Amino acid sequence: MTSKRIASGLGLLLGAGLAAGQAVALEGDAERGQAAAGTCVACHQADGSGMNVPGGQSWPRLAGLGADYIAKQLHDFQEGRRQNASMMPFANMLDDQQIADVAAYYSQLPATQGDGGDVDEALLARGEQLALRGDWDEYIVSCKSCHGPGNQGAGSTFPGIAGQHAGYIESQLHAWQAGERSNDPQNLMGAIANRMSDDDITAVAAWLASQPATDE
Ligand code: HEC
Ligand code: HEC
Repeated sequence: MTSKRIASGLGLLLGAGLAAGQAVALEGDAERGQAAAGTCVACHQADGSGMNVPGGQSWPRLAGLGADYIAKQLHDFQEGRRQNASMMPFANMLDDQQIADVAAYYSQLPATQGDGGDVDEALLARGEQLALRGDWDEYIVSCKSCHGPGNQGAGSTFPGIAGQHAGYIESQLHAWQAGERSNDPQNLMGAIANRMSDDDITAVAAWLASQPATDE
């Protein structure tokens, strides 16, 4: 509990740095957020678990993601730094206060387990290597060097990616490659995604999906 509070305090500091120049971050209210999330359940499900759709468009798990991270993503959809035809209209429906509220709501829901689909052992082993150790021959740093121990997230800048759905992780890495997602500080993720082959993307997504989203 204590470490969680420190982590979210750090997140606020990092978030404040990133949001410099934007309006002061609004305080979210989880109860109001639950009401505002009425339209979200069609895709993200009532428990925020989302859904894995192998080879199709997956709906990400929102439950347990950081509030500042969620709020940033919704602003990014509104401003076109993330482009997705299914999600953009729903982001556009929300005003700044509603964004803060739904972010507060989803962040306090317990994280659910990701779905990785069926992949073979060799692919999983490659995925584990990329996630934990990287591959210096390909200039790929380990995911955990930014996404934190267990790839469960670090501050509000680096989201947890362990326990997220494989189909969604894959689609995001492809979105960075295609320039449809260009919302990360210093293009950190774009640079990494551009060094990854399709097989590496499938491998790391499947392995991360099989991992616990939190230690609790
Ligand atoms: C019609 C289906 C659909 C509905 C309804 C919907 N979403 Fe989404 N949402 C998506 C998809 C698909 C993505 C992944 C988009 C992408 O690939 O960039 C997404 C992504 C997100 C993300 C980014 C998550 C991350 O890990 O970065 C957030 C936050 C989000 N949605 C919040 C909401 C909220 C809040 C609502 C309700 C106001 C909502 N969504 C309604 C389909 C939907
Ligand atoms: C140099 C730091 C860094 C490294 C290394 C890194 N990431 Fe990221 N990653 C980020 C940042 C920053 C974001 C958040 C971008 C934003 O604000 O939307 C992110 C976001 C993501 C997301 C989107 C999560 C979501 O909920 O939408 C995925 C998927 C992802 N990273 C996968 C990976 C994988 C897989 C690796 C290892 C192969 C990796 N990352 C390595 C910095 C990094």
